[in-house]
Amino acid sequence: MTTDPHVTISPFTADDLAAHARELGALLRACVHDGASIGFVLPFTDDDGEAFWRDTVLPAMREGTRALLVARAGGRIVGTVQLDYGTMPNQRHRAEVRKLMVHPDARRRGLARALMADIERRARHLGRSLLTLDTRTGDGAEHLYASLGYATAGIIPGYAHDPTEDRLDATTIMYKTV
Ligand SMILES: CC(C)(COP(=O)(O)OP(=O)(O)OC[C@H]1O[C@@H](n2cnc3c(N)ncnc32)[C@H](O)[C@@H]1OP(=O)(O)O)[C@@H](O)C(=O)NCCC(=O)NCCS
Repeated sequence: MTTDPHVTISPFTADDLAAHARELGALLRACVHDGASIGFVLPFTDDDGEAFWRDTVLPAMREGTRALLVARAGGRIVGTVQLDYGTMPNQRHRAEVRKLMVHPDARRRGLARALMADIERRARHLGRSLLTLDTRTGDGAEHLYASLGYATAGIIPGYAHDPTEDRLDATTIMYKTV
């Protein structure tokens, strides 16, 4: 739930994703160009964004190891988060939260907090009680996760290349029991 009555959050099926891959790609591009450390570096185009959704997320959804939630405001996609539950047999109680993102012009209105609450509900429904994630050390997302009760397991220096600048950033590994 968000406090914004114009925002709806809903689960996407694989077919929903296929139908909206272009728009989701544009959201990803906007976040990467804004400096988000979510797996990509510049140059990064709408085509690159669409390819990520079609080539990486869609197959995982079709094989039943990925859940996708999408936030819309006024009919436009403004945020998303994924739950990757394609874990090994000895970790069926665990899932990874992936690629939480909110469009730069829709931030600080509680969308990410609402997406996380919904993905945690979805995880519990799937019997996943341990959630893990990683985020660039010092990012707003780290504050968000800490405020939601995620604990820090540790920090790995020099983990990922910055999307726009020539430097390596540390990542913080976090977890929560839900
Ligand atoms: C991180 C991100 C998802 C937050 O989205 P959002 O919708 O703006 O977050 P919310 O409005 O739900 O924020 C909830 C709380 O998180 C914390 N928070 C969110 N963004 C923050 C920031 N930039 N700096 C500090 N705290 C922040 C605050 O405690 C905030 O509460 P407040 O607004 O009442 O102070 C968004 O900034 C984003 O998409 N960033 C780029 C992608 C990214 O880094 N994703 C994380 C990948 S691991």
